Parts: sequence; structure tokens; C-alpha cells
Amino acid sequence: MHRNKARVEPRAQALEQTLIPPPPPAAASKMVAQRQRSSSRSSRRHLAGAVVFLATTAFALLFLPRSSPLSYGIVIDAGSTGSRVHVIAYHAGALTQLDWSRTYSLKATPGLSSFAADPGSGGLSIAPLLEFARRHVPRDSWVHTEVRLMATAGLRLLDIATAEAVMESCRELLRGSGFRFQDQWATIISGADEGIYAWVAANYALGTLGGARQDTTGIIELGGASIQVTFATDKPMPQEFSHVLKFGDITYNLYSHSFLHLGQNVAYESLHDLLSTPALESMSTHLIHQATYKDPCTPKGFSRMVGLVKPLASVLESKNIIAHAVGNFSECRSVVRTLLHKGQEECIYHDCRLGAAFVPDLEGRFLATENFYHTSKFFGLRSKSFLSDLMLAGEQFCHGDWSSNIKRKYRSFNEGELLLFCFSSAYIVALLHDALKVPMDHNSIDVTNKIRGMPVDWALGAFIVQKN
Ligand SMILES: *[C@@H]1O[C@H](CO)[C@@H](O)[C@H](O)[C@H]1NC(C)=O
Repeated sequence: MHRNKARVEPRAQALEQTLIPPPPPAAASKMVAQRQRSSSRSSRRHLAGAVVFLATTAFALLFLPRSSPLSYGIVIDAGSTGSRVHVIAYHAGALTQLDWSRTYSLKATPGLSSFAADPGSGGLSIAPLLEFARRHVPRDSWVHTEVRLMATAGLRLLDIATAEAVMESCRELLRGSGFRFQDQWATIISGADEGIYAWVAANYALGTLGGARQDTTGIIELGGASIQVTFATDKPMPQEFSHVLKFGDITYNLYSHSFLHLGQNVAYESLHDLLSTPALESMSTHLIHQATYKDPCTPKGFSRMVGLVKPLASVLESKNIIAHAVGNFSECRSVVRTLLHKGQEECIYHDCRLGAAFVPDLEGRFLATENFYHTSKFFGLRSKSFLSDLMLAGEQFCHGDWSSNIKRKYRSFNEGELLLFCFSSAYIVALLHDALKVPMDHNSIDVTNKIRGMPVDWALGAFIVQKN
């Protein structure tokens, strides 16, 4: 064992607060034992908790075989902005039973992809995560506890040799972590796999995993860099979108696709590139150094210098360009549609709803997670009739005045965050309704990030897939 080596001073200092998911009802019965183990954790449960405790103790006695010992698994989700470790406690059995009260996670920044220039030290950034895992897994369980690292979009975008060098430096640390590890357990996964794992996590939490296809729930994730759409269907589809997932006796046929560059943050940047192109062109033809463009996705009254824009090939010096906010929901939605349909002329399928990718009719119930949830929460929307309510809320927000009413109403938000909501409301309406054809008055999409206390997180789904 090389514990000392793994304890090398962490390079990733900017650690987020430990994320301890609030225990779901089924986990509350473990609270007592847990308090004995770690008295430093403050007790937050009051009367309601006690009621839940009683109810779920009965539940636990009925459904959790008391003899089933607690096991642990570790999954490191190496994303583009940071790496997050999940220390998962579970009871093994026909269906792995996660124990929420003893599952912990911690994120370290920056992400592995930021070590491209010095791939050999990428591994050090996960050292604090492994240290965290060692604190949360009892020492005598370390050798039985498997640790896996799965990297996503950030590393996918690096060249293969660099990405592999970063992975190798992680493997070195993982081998000496004290946990069970094999080299092939540190991998870069595809966007479609990410979607499939999220689908598994969602259906596990809903209790539909292992059941009939038509009872499962699809998932649409709106991330920062990409969108994933995943659901079970019996309809035929082009092979590159079709994924088979076996679970117990049942085989699911899944549509899963990751739309790179259509995540909310990347799309927002593309929008400004798109809007400012004519201004840039006029600057170069008229040899002027400053120009403005209309920005319908920002409420009026907000002004900013977009800054020094990359010079066009024909212009050697940088230029100043100013966005003129003219907040208008329907205009914003219409520019956003152009973004979503970009590349459609290259469509080789009978129906391309997003870019040049095939998307079948959405079937059944869906969860909409990540940025769908953040926007919905910001506007205080109920999960049902989400789309039509979002449109009304978005219109009101986009047409508001930045300094006289918006900033005053949302004092606790910083400008950068607040600025996104006109865009995100229009983006979501265009994405779900205009592109994916979800009716405005649908009631089959639940907008959420958690189900019964369990975060709908692909890393948890990845763990469940391995264990079954
Ligand atoms: C927004 O733009 C549309 C289309 O250009 C226009 O018809 C509408 O009146 C505008 N709405 C507001 C509130 O300015």
C-alpha cells in the first residue's frame, strides 16, 4: 500500500462543501447508528424526522434483510469543471440497495482536462477525493471496495494521447489508494453512456428499473456543455442511436444520444457569436473599431462591453463590440431555434429534430434535470404544466427592465447568474417544444434533480449497472 504517496499535498485546493444528500425516508432508520459513528455531524432532524424514522424503521425491517452487510463502492465522476467522488454505501442483493444516509460526495476543481499541459500531475487532483473516500469507508472494508473513475466531455475533447496520459496518472494514484482497482476501471465514457447511466439512476430511484419498458421514465439532461436524451422504446431506429441494456431478466432497447455543444452555457456563447457576426463583419468592411448588436435574450437596461473579440482573418487588431439588450422572449426564442437546428442540412435520417441527429418521438413519461431544474426553480414553477408556465414567466422576465425591476426583485443573485434566465427560459421552450415537439400543455415531464432524496446522477447509475 502506498498511502503516504496518495497523501501528497492536494493540488486541488478549491474543494466544495461536502455534499451530503438529505436522507430519503428509507434511509432515516440508519440515523441512530450513524450518529454513534460520527458525532461531529450535526443533527438536523426534528419532529417530522422522528415520524419518518418510525415509519421507515418498519419499512426497513420489512424490506432490508438485517443480515445483509453494508458494502461500499467508489465512483469518481471526472467532468469538465471538476471531479466528484461518490462514496456509495449499499446492501448487496438481487437488486443493489443504496444506503443514502451513508453515501457521501465531494468535488474537487479543476477538472482533469485542465491538466492537458502537464498530464502527469492530473492524478494529483484526485488525491483529496481518495483521502475523503478513505475517511468514509471503514478501514477493514478498503480492500473489498472497488474504485472506478469515469471521465466525460472534458477529456473526450482532448487528443487521445494527452487524455490517456492524464488517465494513466490517475491510475497510478488509484493503484496505491488502498481500494480495489484494476486499470480498465479508469475510462473515458461516451455521451450516450452518460445518458444511459442517468436513465438507470432515475429509474432506480423511481422503482421502475427491472420493470416493463412502458413503465420506465425517460430522461432529458440539460448540462452546461451537452444535452442527453435517453428513453426506452420499441420503435426501430438507426443503429448508432440504439443501445441495449440488460437488467436482470429484462432487456431494454434505449434511444440515447448526447448533443455536444447544445448544453446551456455553450449554447449561450454560440448565441452571442451568432448575434455578433454581422457587427463584426461590418466593422471589418467599414474599418470601424466599435459596433453594436441587438441582443433579444437580455432584458433591456442591461449594458455591457462584450469585450475584445477575436479578430477576423482580414482584420489584425481586436475590436470592441457592444451588445444592446432589447429583451424580447419571442425574438430570443427564434434565434435560439437557429442554434438548435444548426447542421440540419446534413441530416441523413428522415427526421432530425436537433442539429443533424435523429430523435424519435418522445414516448411516455420524462424527467428533465440539471439546468431545466435550475431554471424552473428560479421561476418558482410547479412541475406540472411546466412549459406553458415557463413561457409566461420567461416573457415577463425578458420584457422586464434590468435595473428598475429585475435587479431589485432578485437581490440575492449575482448579475452573471441572473443574466442567463431570459435566455434559458427561451432556450428550454425552443428545445422542448419547437425542436423535440413536446406539447406546451404536456403533463408528462417532471422537472427535478432528485427523486426521494436521491440525486439523479449518472455516476450512481453507472454504479448500479456494474453491480447488477
Ligand atoms: C417582440 O418581438 C416581436 C417580433 O419582432 C414583436 O412582434 C413584439 O411586439 C415584441 N414584443 C415586445 C414586448 O416588444
